[in-house]
Amino acid sequence: MIKKAVIPAAGLGTRFLPVTKAQPKEMLPIIDTPTIQYVVQECVDSGIEDILIISGKGKRSLEDHFDKNFELETRLQEKEDEALYTHLKHIENMANIHFIRQKELNGLGDAIYHARFHCGQEPFAVLLGDTVIDSVIPVTQQLIDSYEQYGQTVIAVETVAWDNVSRYGIVGGDNLSSRVIRLNELIEKPNREQAPSNLAIAGRYILTPQIFRALEKTPRGKGNEIQLTDALQMLLKEDGITATLIEGKRYDLGNKMDFLKTTVEFALKRQDFAAEFEEFLRETIDRLDQDRKEH
Ligand code: G1P
Repeated sequence: MIKKAVIPAAGLGTRFLPVTKAQPKEMLPIIDTPTIQYVVQECVDSGIEDILIISGKGKRSLEDHFDKNFELETRLQEKEDEALYTHLKHIENMANIHFIRQKELNGLGDAIYHARFHCGQEPFAVLLGDTVIDSVIPVTQQLIDSYEQYGQTVIAVETVAWDNVSRYGIVGGDNLSSRVIRLNELIEKPNREQAPSNLAIAGRYILTPQIFRALEKTPRGKGNEIQLTDALQMLLKEDGITATLIEGKRYDLGNKMDFLKTTVEFALKRQDFAAEFEEFLRETIDRLDQDRKEH
């Protein structure tokens, strides 16, 4: 049973400046919902309600978002806005959310190391705060199923274009089934020549407490940061690790273009937006085509 999850959300969001100068990137909304809420929802949908968010300087609004806002609730009740009131109650009661601060930004590995006392001797899920995955079965649940079958550390992976392997942690190994790979190599942001495959780590993991011992010994790696991927590579020597090919679509919300595309796709999936928004998109494309013909 996986009962705990860790969401690292301490990063500065430099790829999203200037909007992230004074607010956390995890609070940027896809339409009206901050990205962190989608990630917490994935935990809840996977049966996990004990969540540790690794936050940092300037991230206080993450705490406020999952807190009770008495004034707002009273106002909504007065206005008899039952739907919004219920939604706000849902957010504050979603899960038991704990926070710890990563005081210095020493990398993802260091962020996870901050969870050692919270997780103790239990295996736990990790969900990167700037990745949302749309799927029928929540990806964390897919990993839990795999963990229950193999009893080892599990990493979510997906195939990426060879030109993009240097943006990700990349894994190599042998297929155990069509969706499960037994790993023999993990390498953080390799160049194309070094990459053992084009299978990229997709921002979801089930880790065992052994990771904390590995992290203690992990030297600084790519970007002069303590990399989770390097600690996992170290763990591989003593413990097996499997990777599961995710069934779902991953949205990387850490960069502007992908965020924009995500917003469009999510709007088209929302019942309250889809029809009008699709009409707007079609009109916009028609206008672009028209302009192009005329010039
Ligand atoms: C992190 C991980 C990397 C993984 C990626 C997925 O990198 O270190 O292994 O592939 O997330 O989004 P980051 O994007 O934080 O540099």
